[in-house]
Amino acid sequence: MKLVLATHNKDKITEIKALLQVLPINIFTFQEFVRFPDVVEDRDTLEGNAEKKAWEIFEITGMPAMADDTGLFVDAINGEPGVFSSRYAGENVTYADNREKLIREMADIPEGKRDAVFKTVIVLIINDNEKYIVEGRCEGYIGMEEIGTMGFGYDSIFYLHDSGKSFAELTLEEKNKISHRGRALQKMKKVLEEITK
Ligand code: IMP
Repeated sequence: MKLVLATHNKDKITEIKALLQVLPINIFTFQEFVRFPDVVEDRDTLEGNAEKKAWEIFEITGMPAMADDTGLFVDAINGEPGVFSSRYAGENVTYADNREKLIREMADIPEGKRDAVFKTVIVLIINDNEKYIVEGRCEGYIGMEEIGTMGFGYDSIFYLHDSGKSFAELTLEEKNKISHRGRALQKMKKVLEEITK
């Protein structure tokens, strides 16, 4: 089976290739195509954005396509930053800008009321009539301050209930086992195992 990954993110490509290498799947990325657009994420749900990306890349390449979208949803501020997680502080901002905005917005929210959940949705389009959607979640809370140096995005302010550690204090291997994206990918791996049986 052929599969094209609808992303330009090299870290995601490495992670997905490593996980799926045991399956009989020939994985293609943007590097093998002349035309491979950066699909605009303008839908109001993670599923909408992931599906839009997968469809566009499926239509352009003519191959089964897989895309994901992730957001951080904080209960106390009505699910923000949610689907806008990558541009919470505006267009062309850094991860640090987004973290600083979130800490600012939550300055008055006391400990114990700072629950948050990371969600990843992955959509796989096999053909016009065959589509699979999976979701992975990871629950935690937003800390009062940053801690840890690993990871990216909101990792240094996203803390786990059990250990009290932030995502940025975990190795990539530790994080992948419990993260939203890791869990979604494990589910999609099972789907692909069935399809390629
Ligand atoms: P994307 O859909 O994977 O590009 O994720 C959207 C945004 O969510 C990113 O720009 C990050 O700010 C944030 N994000 C996604 N995954 C993670 C993660 O594992 N840790 C921290 N932040 C993340």
